[in-house]
Amino acid sequence: MTSRHTHEHRPAPDDHGFRAVLHREHEGTGVPVLLVHGFPLDHRMWSETVGELTAAAQAPTVLSVDLPGFGDASVIEGDVPSPSVEVMADALASALDAQGVGGVVAAGMSMGGYVVLALLERRPDLVRALALVDTRSSADAAQAKDNRLWIAGEVESTGSLGPVEGMATSLLGRTSREKRPDLVQTVRGWIDDQTPAAVAWAQRAMASRPDRTPVLSAYTGPVSVVVGTEDDVTPPALAEEMVEAASDESDPALVLVPDAGHLAALEGPEHVAGALLRLQARADAAA
Ligand code: MLT
Repeated sequence: MTSRHTHEHRPAPDDHGFRAVLHREHEGTGVPVLLVHGFPLDHRMWSETVGELTAAAQAPTVLSVDLPGFGDASVIEGDVPSPSVEVMADALASALDAQGVGGVVAAGMSMGGYVVLALLERRPDLVRALALVDTRSSADAAQAKDNRLWIAGEVESTGSLGPVEGMATSLLGRTSREKRPDLVQTVRGWIDDQTPAAVAWAQRAMASRPDRTPVLSAYTGPVSVVVGTEDDVTPPALAEEMVEAASDESDPALVLVPDAGHLAALEGPEHVAGALLRLQARADAAA
């Protein structure tokens, strides 16, 4: 399972089988950009954004990650910790530490956004700038939590990904669904590559996450909030709330990606990459 860009798999030396796998997509200059994927996907969801980032004149170093259980981190040996977003953030921090990466522009899409906010809380030294892409800082409402726990039980008891297969369409905006059936197939393929165990674990992890809006508000570094105009999962209104909660008052703090849904990184990669490059330039200037 690989991206179409250069990468390497180098698990942390102290890892116990439950690990994040970091991919070095591109060696460039300045503060590296780290891309953290959503659910139930892996680092490949960023492939189009990586292409745009690395085509830039002063391309930054670009890293992507497979969170524990997903993509190239799907094989888990030994004990599996209790599900939590904090465990994912700690695994990500270990992978960054093992490669001596230091501070990054941390970009998280949806579940990846929950993880980078937890990383910011637990390891602020690793976050030089924050990009929240099609995500939310708030916790789930009771009904959403119940639904996650139901899905976790269902994929485990049936051993099938049936309950999340519909996400191949719901993650995309209506314009992509109508005009780009190739994207539906691509996303379906990525979902099909994940395991029921990872899907169940991550649903339970996300269900238990706290509201991290206070973490966002307390952060004084550069922030960019990016959302597809057709994102029905974490709609633009949620992005506007995060912009209001953030201390950073850059312009534009909110980047709207036209004709894109929840997977703006795939549907409108030039807009997402543009926002990340502007953010990375600010992180570089502050370094
Ligand atoms: C994602 O894209 O990561 C999911 O929509 C996250 C979630 O289920 O909250």
